[in-house]
Parts: sequence; structure tokens; C-alpha cells
Amino acid sequence: MTEISSTPQWKALEADAAGLAQVPMRALFDSDPDRFARYSIEAAGLFLDYAKNKLTDQVVDHLLALAAAADVEERRAAMFAGEAINVTEGRAVLHVALRAAATDAYSTAGEDASALVQAELKKMKGFCDRVHQGAFKGYSGKALDTVVNIGIGGSDLGPQMAAAALQPFWIDGRRTFFISNVDGQHLAAALDAVDPERTLFVIASKTFTTQETMTNAKSARAWFFENGGGEDDIAKHFVALSTNAEAVAAFGIDRENMFQFWDWVGGRYSLWSAIGLSIALQVGFDNFTKLLAGAQRMDQHFKTTPMAQNMPVMLALVGVWNRNFIGISAHAILPYDQHLARLPAYLQQADMESNGKRVSADGSVVAHATGPVLFGEPGTNGQHAFYQLLHQGADIVSADFIAPAISQRELGDHHEKLLSNFLAQTEALMRGKTEAEVRDELRGEGKSDAEIDALSPHKIFPGDRPTNSILMERLEPETLGSLIALYEHKIFVEGVIWGINSFDQWGVELGKVLARNILPEIAGAGEEKPSATAHDASTNGLINRINAIRRKG
Ligand code: F6P
Repeated sequence: MTEISSTPQWKALEADAAGLAQVPMRALFDSDPDRFARYSIEAAGLFLDYAKNKLTDQVVDHLLALAAAADVEERRAAMFAGEAINVTEGRAVLHVALRAAATDAYSTAGEDASALVQAELKKMKGFCDRVHQGAFKGYSGKALDTVVNIGIGGSDLGPQMAAAALQPFWIDGRRTFFISNVDGQHLAAALDAVDPERTLFVIASKTFTTQETMTNAKSARAWFFENGGGEDDIAKHFVALSTNAEAVAAFGIDRENMFQFWDWVGGRYSLWSAIGLSIALQVGFDNFTKLLAGAQRMDQHFKTTPMAQNMPVMLALVGVWNRNFIGISAHAILPYDQHLARLPAYLQQADMESNGKRVSADGSVVAHATGPVLFGEPGTNGQHAFYQLLHQGADIVSADFIAPAISQRELGDHHEKLLSNFLAQTEALMRGKTEAEVRDELRGEGKSDAEIDALSPHKIFPGDRPTNSILMERLEPETLGSLIALYEHKIFVEGVIWGINSFDQWGVELGKVLARNILPEIAGAGEEKPSATAHDASTNGLINRINAIRRKG
């Protein structure tokens, strides 16, 4: 595999970045009134403005040439064709099949993926209907109005984020708790708040072996037995979402209560599969179908639109430009909609578990930077927390600003205030405030020369902080589906350019194994334990200290 940073296309971009180093973005705007029209794309219910990046037409051409050099179109075709592009696990990557039209025919390794998907969707719909109509009853004959979704990572973040985002679409009287952490306080708080006679436990785990999820599921089952349920009632209160039928059966959930998905669905790409059952139960199956339809629109756009007008491709190319040529290592996700509060956490897994890699698909260490650190909070909250660093920090952070033009809950002028902040922030980050502007302003406030000299360095904003703005009419199931699919494909394109496999996650393994080894050394609070010696001095010391405290306490 050619190291992408040795290609002439990469070198051309390095030269572009050097040439633009002293050109402020505000100058690019001043000399180019059509910038907004040229550097924006509308697709699948979303509008992307990427004009507030340090781009010129030459840079865009060179980025497109880089995409061609990295075979983005060929890799895209391979993904849609169900080829095993997840090379280290020998798996296809076909989450697009989960939201395809019923008439589409996706297959992989001779398996008709579309037929499997349609059958499972039918089963999910049937189940949702029975729960919603009160026909699926608990052990005491009552309808189930509460879901406790037990899962972690992709089996938690996606459904949790989507359910929160679609709060205006919740079915009256229904509630869902998302329990992920092995910290027992997480599950205990939910169990304190639910009625065992009316609660459905949805055990969501692709592998059905994940320590956190199995620990929580076993504790939930024990609580259920202590609170009126019996072995024979498991079928009325527990369902499983998994690819592992054997482990589900071993847990005591029968096949009828298992909703399946397949190894060609990555955990962080699974909310469209059976893993979305908790979303469908909370917002209704029709709205879940609309979520899938929105993603499908973005898939079609991504699959068929030329690179230069392709929203995920351009968002990815801008990401590569900022990461590799401007040298930005952190990226903020800033939704200006409170219902998208969990989007940054969701995208952290989607992006960082996919592209947080330093080895290329063929095993060689890459010679360039890969995925940035992602973080974020809803606006305007973040403005009163970490935006100081975005505006004046020593490091440059890029950001995506996301907003619906119309709120689902228009309350007085709240949304206009929210939108004015959404707009003002990207303008401020791009323009900044020069020393001359600061000095003029202070002079206008009647400050003395000495005061101006002392204060002005603190009041300068360097500007040139790149942002994308993603606008939609309203945040609803279709637009949410498009938005998530946009990011999925963006991550894919970046991974292709960086030459990495975006679909494995070996980096989570080492800690899991070491935790399993350490568990016996701290298990059994109160027992006298031999001094730990098997680890480094720091880990041994901490184990011994924890054991001493737990023995006393
Ligand atoms: O953190 C690693 C990981 O494998 C994620 O990729 C996945 O989403 C999560 O654990 C949960 O896995 P499972 O659904 O198998 O319980």
C-alpha cells in the first residue's frame, strides 16, 4: 500500500498549506464573495456550509486529487458491494443494508443481507406493536411501559443518543433507561425507579460476552427474581439483541425473544439494526422507519454523487485538510439543539474507535496523523465552559456547529437567541479580532494609552479557527438519520485516505484482558489478601491500597 503522505497529491497540499499560512481566512472571504455558494452542499435534508475553512479552489482540487489517489470511489464501491473491507476481522461492512429500501438487494459472501434485514425488521415491528398495544404483558398481566436497555459502546450510545434526540416523538407514558456502566450505581438507580411488573429489560450486546453488559444483565435478572418474577417469567420481561444465539440461550432468553443482527454490522454502526429496538419502542416503529429512511437518503447521495458535490466526501476532505495540513489534533462537535446532547459522546465512539489508529490496513505504521480527539457539548452550554480555548487557546481546534432552523419547541425567542449564538460563534472563530480593532475599541471606551497597552494582548482573537455549519429544517427522525449517516460516511472516507481499517477496534482489548487478570486480586472485600507483586510498582501499590481500604470499610 502506498503511504499516502509520499504521494505528489499530498505534497501539493503541504505546499498549499505553507502558501496559505500567512493568509487569514477573513482575507479569503473579502476577496471571494461566492465562497458560501461554492463551499456548501445540500443533500438528504441537510445543508453543509464548509466555507469557514482555510480553503481555496486549488486546495479543494488537490484534496479531490488526494481522494482519487486513495481510491475513495473504489473503496466506496467495495463497501456497498459487501466485500470484506474489514480486513483484520475478515468481515464485510454493510450497515447500509440495514436501512436500504425493501427492494434493494445487498448481499455479502453469498448471503442475502437484504432478506435477513427485512425479516428482522418485520419481527421488530410485530414486537413493538404488541408492546405498544399492551398485548405483550408482564408476569402479573400488566402492560409494559418501561424499558431498561442494558448495553455499552455501540449497544448503548447509538440508541441512547437517538432516543434523546427524538424526545418530541416519544410515545406518551413510555420511558427508557439506558444502563451501560459496570459501576453498580448506574443500574441500581434505574432499578430504584422502575416497577418490575411493567419493565422490559432489553439486553443489547453484539457478542453477548461484554463484561459490563453481562454483569448488569445478571444483576437485573437477580433483582427481577427478588421482586416477584420467576424463571418462567423471563420470557415476559427480557429480550436480547445480539449476533450470538448460543450465549443468549445460555442466559435464559429463548430464541423467540432474541432479535438478531450479523457480523457485518459493526457495534458502532448498529443502531439501525435490532440494536435500535429501544428507539423503536420509545418513539414508535413508524418513526424508527423514518430514521432509517433518512439514513438511506444520505447513503444514496454518498453512493451516487460526484466527489466534489458529495457531502460526506467534502466533510471528510475538510477534516483531512485540517488534521494533516493545518495540523489540528482536536475537533469539537457542537450541536445547537439540547436534544442532541448525546451526539458528541456518540460521535466520539463512531470516530475515535474507527479512526484512532496508527497502523495501516496492511500492518505498516503510517507516516501521517490520523483521527483527531473529539469532544463537545450542546451550545450554548459549551460557550460558558470550554469555548475560551476555542477562541484564544494556544492550540487550534476545529469544530462542527449543528442546528435546526426551527425548534421542535419554539418557546418565545429562545430559538432565535440560540441561532444567533450558533451563527455568531463561527463568525467570531473565523474572523477573530485584530490588535488594531482591539486598540480602537479600547480607545473608544476612553481607556488611556497605558491601559490599552496592558489590556489589548488579552483581548485579541487570532481567528482562523476552522468550522463547518450543518443546518437542517427541523430535528426529526429523517434528518437525524441523515446526520448520523453523514458522519458514518465521513469517517469511512477519512479512514480510506489515511489507509487504515476503520472497522476494527483492537485498541480496546489490552485493558479488558488486564482487568480480568486484576479482578481476582481485588475480589472479596474484607478478605485478607497477599500483597500484590505481579505488576509494576504503581499498579501493585494501588491494588494494595484499595484492598486495605476495602478491608477496613
Ligand atoms: O468497546 C469495544 C466494543 O467492542 C465496541 O466496539 C462495542 O460497541 C462495545 O464494545 C459493546 O460490544 P457488545 O455489543 O458486543 O457488547
